[in-house]
Amino acid sequence: MKGYAYGATYTVTADAIIDEATGWDVMSTWETPIMQKHADIVCANGGHILEFGFGMGISAGLIQEKDIESHTIIEINDGIYANLVEWAKDKPNVVAVKGDWYNDIPKDKKYDGIFYDGFGDMMNKRYFPTRIMEHCKVGTILTWYNNLLKEESQYDGDVKTMNRLHNGKALGDLEQFKSPERITYETVSLTIPDEARIKWYLEGSGNTYYAPKLIVDSDDI
Ligand SMILES: C[S@@+](CC[C@H](N)C(=O)[O-])C[C@H]1O[C@@H](n2cnc3c(N)ncnc32)[C@H](O)[C@@H]1O
Repeated sequence: MKGYAYGATYTVTADAIIDEATGWDVMSTWETPIMQKHADIVCANGGHILEFGFGMGISAGLIQEKDIESHTIIEINDGIYANLVEWAKDKPNVVAVKGDWYNDIPKDKKYDGIFYDGFGDMMNKRYFPTRIMEHCKVGTILTWYNNLLKEESQYDGDVKTMNRLHNGKALGDLEQFKSPERITYETVSLTIPDEARIKWYLEGSGNTYYAPKLIVDSDDI
């Protein structure tokens, strides 16, 4: 299954990625403090980091500042992937993968931290994190972009939230991770610009972003 981002035409400007078909801002520089928080969380173990969605490369650049061994990035969109390849030229620990995180995770290692930020991946997002467990070890840190502006995420909400997010479709194996007590949140204070078109996607209000963290345990893998 290929999601929306696969065939989208994205234009990257100085401060955003714009989806030409809808005019939506897929990623914007005002999200940098959010990306910093995800980079801090995902790199806390050091080691091998896996990232889904290159976008503007903001989180990727922040991850590169950390003391890590390798940094694998999977990107599905042709234009964005070309930017990733260019960006990675002087970064020897980066493994750039053209593909879908759902199918194309390199199997040569287990990862120490995984960050999922695949805006436009409405098809498969419900299979995160179950799908990636075979690439994890005990202690792997998972973090993902959270579009709920509260201490809750699409992976620990109630069934109503899930149904709303997934148009009432079967929840798949997401149910397995409905364990809110295992997900912790680190907050980021920021101002979401009024003109941010992505605001429709961020459910809730306020100026606090909640970055989720789930640490893989032996029962998960
Ligand atoms: C919001 S952007 C990522 C922003 C990035 N974290 C940054 O700091 O700039 C989402 C990215 O995910 C990519 N994407 C969407 N679905 C994907 C999938 N199934 N597999 C891999 N990448 C995907 C999009 O093409 C886009 O580049």
